[in-house]
Amino acid sequence: MRLDKYLSEAAASSRSEAARAARAGRITVDGVTVRDCSVHIDPESAEVTLDGKRVLWRRFTYVMLNKPKGYVSSTEDSGRTVMDLLPDAFKKMNMFPCGRLDVDTTGLLLITNDGERAHRLLSPARHVAKIYAFVITDPIGEDERARLEQGVDIGGHISAPSTVRLDTPTSGEITITEGKFHQIKRMFHAVGSEISELERVAFGPLTLDRSLGHGEYRYLTDEEEAALIAAAE
Ligand code: URA
Repeated sequence: MRLDKYLSEAAASSRSEAARAARAGRITVDGVTVRDCSVHIDPESAEVTLDGKRVLWRRFTYVMLNKPKGYVSSTEDSGRTVMDLLPDAFKKMNMFPCGRLDVDTTGLLLITNDGERAHRLLSPARHVAKIYAFVITDPIGEDERARLEQGVDIGGHISAPSTVRLDTPTSGEITITEGKFHQIKRMFHAVGSEISELERVAFGPLTLDRSLGHGEYRYLTDEEEAALIAAAE
């Protein structure tokens, strides 16, 4: 892999910045100053530094975003997308949101460039659990809770079994393994209520990091990354 590609994929610099940094003698590969960014290196084994700091390249990048309201979960849209909340370098790295949250839904959204694993994590056959905290407009009771858990008609489809915990008659947590369009909104509508707040708090083995404010992101830890990879096996 070319050195400038390595640096841009590691989100350390753009390719043109890399060329300038190399000319200025700010880049080393395996301890040797390299002034030409077109050299090819082995990304798996090379030790690259920029301004004395190690630049770590990974084949795939995974970040957790705490999605705010008002952003569309896609890479392209006429309105604001979740990619607008992330560094420009992420687009060049082919990062994209793994799945969709509605524009008014908040919470955990995985952003990655690992297309194959993202595809597997989203496959309905894999039953990856997604947990959402909800607030609804009209109170529901034990009957409605049980119906939601068993499966309700969401318009030509009976929702798969889910788990619902009611904290109050108008709030709680729901765990689903499907990901149909407006799934949870349609489920609550089917039992006579409407969603007024929806926040994803978990996706497979990942739990929303509450230290992230709305619109903030962080890289997954090694443990989270390993758990995610295991969930996609
Ligand atoms: N279900 C919904 O209705 N909306 C979301 O954003 C996610 C699940």
